[in-house]
Amino acid sequence: MKILITGAAGFLGSHLSEKYVLDKHLVYGVDNLMNGNLNNVRTLLHKKNFKFIRGDIALNDVYSKLPNDFDAIFHLAAQIHVDRSIVNPEETFKINLGGTLKILEFARMNDIDKILFSSTSEVYGSAEYAPMDESHPLSAKHPYGVSKIAADRLCYTYNETYDLGVDIIRCFNFFGPRQKDTGYGGVIAIFINRVLQNKPPIIYGNGKQSRDYMYVKDAVDAYDTVLRSKGNPGKNGINFGSGKEISIKEIADMVIKHGAKDKKMQAIHVEPRPVEVQRLIADISKAKKLLQFKPK
Ligand SMILES: NC(=O)c1ccc[n+]([C@@H]2O[C@H](COP(=O)([O-])OP(=O)(O)OC[C@H]3O[C@@H](n4cnc5c(N)ncnc54)[C@H](O)[C@@H]3O)[C@@H](O)[C@H]2O)c1
Repeated sequence: MKILITGAAGFLGSHLSEKYVLDKHLVYGVDNLMNGNLNNVRTLLHKKNFKFIRGDIALNDVYSKLPNDFDAIFHLAAQIHVDRSIVNPEETFKINLGGTLKILEFARMNDIDKILFSSTSEVYGSAEYAPMDESHPLSAKHPYGVSKIAADRLCYTYNETYDLGVDIIRCFNFFGPRQKDTGYGGVIAIFINRVLQNKPPIIYGNGKQSRDYMYVKDAVDAYDTVLRSKGNPGKNGINFGSGKEISIKEIADMVIKHGAKDKKMQAIHVEPRPVEVQRLIADISKAKKLLQFKPK
């Protein structure tokens, strides 16, 4: 298969690139390195079946450098930091919504009908009921989440209007190697890095806020299952996660227990973050039923 992966030098994108290059597919990876790093794909750069293009998916230039006969597109490139989206919402919308529009038009004009779009559980906002299925209201309260709602619904519009075949993938949080220990969402990487430096984890608020974490390899499996599926299982959104809830305080305690030299280390609590999601837990019944998805 000829596959385009946007955001290929990022956390999830580098794992997906690695999988499909090693499986002998021809992979074009696009990334502007705004948050990604070439180091994440360094073992692939010399391979014949990996073509890396440094470019911005929100600008036109990059599209003229791409072939037009892809079998599938994984559209991951995004500005993912909530704090940065609060400081600069325009940039976040330009990339997350404007960039997605350009990818959808590229797919439409070139008759590419397998597109996997990285939406996110952040579109739901904080749980109004739990676990959260795909019918949960889309109530994100920060610009990152709202830019993802807009892009998620734009993909749905392309499915309805042009019968495009976009699978809208709503992963809950994932963690694992190459996740940056800066910014939002990477709390496991952030805590581990601090504790290894003998510094206590910093918790915003009381730490009772919870998340649903799965290992990055499960996220790769989720995308791959959707790629191999017939039809359009994510036409109107499909959740992937562990279905298990863990609080930020529990994560901090676990990292201290297993990583700290000083066993008396205690997390530091600081002021809560404005508009932070308080509770996320996935209902993955749809993925189980349609795709037999089971996180390992
Ligand atoms: N990390 C999570 O827990 C999580 C959970 C659910 C959904 N997601 C979604 O999955 C996708 C990948 O997330 P990630 O954690 O790997 O993030 P990441 O920041 O590591 O990867 C995104 C990549 O996109 C690149 N990029 C940003 N703007 C670009 C642009 N205009 N043109 C080209 N490249 C650009 C960045 O440089 C980066 O390498 C994102 O769309 C994110 O919203 C992530």
